[in-house]
Amino acid sequence: MKTQVAIIGAGPSGLLLGRLLELQGIDNIIIEAKSPDYVLSRIRAGVLEEGTQNLMREAQVGDRMDREGHVHDGFALSFLGREERIDVKGLTGGKSVMVYGQTEVTKDLMQARSESGGLTIYDADDVTPHDFYSDKPSVTYKKDGQLHTIECEYIAGCDGFHGVARKSVPTDAIKLFERVYPFGWLGVLSRTPPVSHELIYANHERGFALCSMRSDMMSRYYVQCSLDEKVEEWSDQRFWDELRLRLPAHTASSLVTGDSIEKSIAPLRSFVAEPMQFGRMYLVGDAAHIVPPTGAKGLNLAASDVYTLYHIMRKRYKEGRLDLLTKYSEICLRRIWKAERFSWWMTSILHKFSDDPFNQRIQEAELDYYTSSVAGRTTIAENYVGLPYEVVE
Ligand code: APR
Ligand code: PHB
Repeated sequence: MKTQVAIIGAGPSGLLLGRLLELQGIDNIIIEAKSPDYVLSRIRAGVLEEGTQNLMREAQVGDRMDREGHVHDGFALSFLGREERIDVKGLTGGKSVMVYGQTEVTKDLMQARSESGGLTIYDADDVTPHDFYSDKPSVTYKKDGQLHTIECEYIAGCDGFHGVARKSVPTDAIKLFERVYPFGWLGVLSRTPPVSHELIYANHERGFALCSMRSDMMSRYYVQCSLDEKVEEWSDQRFWDELRLRLPAHTASSLVTGDSIEKSIAPLRSFVAEPMQFGRMYLVGDAAHIVPPTGAKGLNLAASDVYTLYHIMRKRYKEGRLDLLTKYSEICLRRIWKAERFSWWMTSILHKFSDDPFNQRIQEAELDYYTSSVAGRTTIAENYVGLPYEVVE
């Protein structure tokens, strides 16, 4: 098989990139290790920056998002028993975010690709990128006991944190930056009305909590937990009791609880790989970087990487702009590191890191300081809606 761009991974990064390239007549094949059902089974956050929303619309998959997504003009930070609303729209000259589950984003992209006939190879084993430092790269994979080779001109490693693309790079050609946080998030999905129509990020001396949602009758809640805890140790009742303890009284008293339909513990890490390109192979999304979910940046950083690579490929194939091919990594990393900073900052001021009461007081002072001035609120708001994309030109 031959194609122009071989895309490893059919998560949001791979599907969005494949769709945008396809619409420009740039041939691509997606090779995915898992089944479509497995890809769709992953419960992931979905707070979309306007840049991500616009990319979905440009990919002609934004209609359901625009119909069913919930536009949010603000969110709350709670601490010391009070809630401080960050007026995101008012502080950013009208920008907002949209709550639309990542699973829905993936569904919309998978459906579009299925309708267009774009080739996606699922359940591919031993996917391996080859010769990406040459001008004849390829990707091999095994399926039904057969070894297959895809000759291509470029490889997009959209295969996530545990994927093969980054791990195929010689260790002396890549530098990894990582911070693993000493706690996890215990998340619960419940068919209950959200406690608030906007998200609430809570600092509390018992630990962090987050109140989010998927729809008017589907709530998503999280409480910080230690990494050695097991989901089995958390009954629904224990979860709801703990969540109430970490929220301001007026919010806790209006919490509607119910049976959990999904309950899981996720670790938190900050991670960046530099550079993000190696000859003709480009790392995209979680393959190149991870953020703690506190800033709701994971999907949005994947989208801005896709935006950059899509425009570089479009100019390469439509205008013969070969000079841009080496600019991908520097353009992406400028935005990635700012989002890593914001995600780290939100994590550092909202979570319990130790029993040292000094830390709690400093966090409370930080939250009080930032929320007591327009400047402080603005810096939070402009990062939450997403910093501008760098134009590829
Ligand atoms: N070969 C082929 N496919 C692979 C391989 C491999 N060796 N390893 C992983 N994959 C697939 C996974 O099965 C998954 O479908 O690559 C895809 C990677 O998808 P994600 O991990 O979702 O990464 P990305 O598409 O960059 O999306 C980032 O997902 O993890 C969240 O918070 C993150 O919202 C962000 C988004
Ligand atoms: C979620 O709804 O799962 C969610 C929302 C915002 C975050 C993290 C997770 O920052």
